[in-house]
Amino acid sequence: MLEIDSVDTYYGSSQILHGTSLSVGEGEVVGLLGRNGMGKSTLVHTVAGLLKPRRGQVTFRGRRISSLAAERISRLGMSLVPQGHRIFPSLTVRENFRIASRRVGDRDWTADEVLEYFPALRERWSVPAGKLSGGQQQMLAMGRAMVCNGKLMLLDEPTEGLDPQTVGRMGEAIDELRRRGTSALLVEQKVGFTLERVDRALILSRGQVIYETDRPQLLRADTQTLRRLIGVSSAHEADGSRAIADENESPVG
Ligand SMILES: Nc1ncnc2c1ncn2[C@@H]1O[C@H](COP(=O)(O)OP(=O)(O)OP(=O)(O)O)[C@@H](O)[C@H]1O
Ligand SMILES: [Mg+2]
Repeated sequence: MLEIDSVDTYYGSSQILHGTSLSVGEGEVVGLLGRNGMGKSTLVHTVAGLLKPRRGQVTFRGRRISSLAAERISRLGMSLVPQGHRIFPSLTVRENFRIASRRVGDRDWTADEVLEYFPALRERWSVPAGKLSGGQQQMLAMGRAMVCNGKLMLLDEPTEGLDPQTVGRMGEAIDELRRRGTSALLVEQKVGFTLERVDRALILSRGQVIYETDRPQLLRADTQTLRRLIGVSSAHEADGSRAIADENESPVG
């Protein structure tokens, strides 16, 4: 489905990806973990065609796509849920869905099915997307990508800024995508959330894949490895401590 082969990506003169390689098989959901600033979003943008790699190749469904424009790549069946929820702010939730929607087969997602997972959007159906809360915009970005009905989803920290209940729904939506045979690259910081639902997991550090496992459940319990590679001692602690940190960050007075 997706092959990333020895990719080098730069911002100006600073090199972010260093010969990064990974693949996502047909129907496979692959988790990509890593601390802040390690190059996860840079990798996602390189795959989606928003950044051009200086060296290396990206192949999607058998086609070399590294030189194609992002729009072409999207039309080949790749959907991106960008970090920080990029939606059309002046369009209503309904219009955002309508523009994105591409339904071909009967197993494809309809807006109604998506709203089962994110009921908050139903209540805001006729509201301009720019007036939604950050979390609601995140749900909308996910919903748009779902009704796009692509072959591969690139999810860049889809749970960032969501309340715990909505994180749960996001997880269920990803599980259902997987059941329907959609491939996905799931970029996350929530270690437990990721390892419990992916087929394979990789860890990115300074633009290189430093660890890869096809037994994510084992890594979940491997406290030592988690601490060594991503600086947390357990998958649960990683998810929980982040939520607590977020709460503590809210301004007081
Ligand atoms: N537009 C940009 N111009 C220059 N440098 C950038 C730009 N965007 C990101 N970087 C740098 O590239 C590196 C990787 O950033 P990237 O956004 O890919 O990290 P990330 O792994 O997605 O982090 P996070 O978990 O915080 O989202 C960082 O050092 C960052 O400062
Ligand atoms: Mg990022």
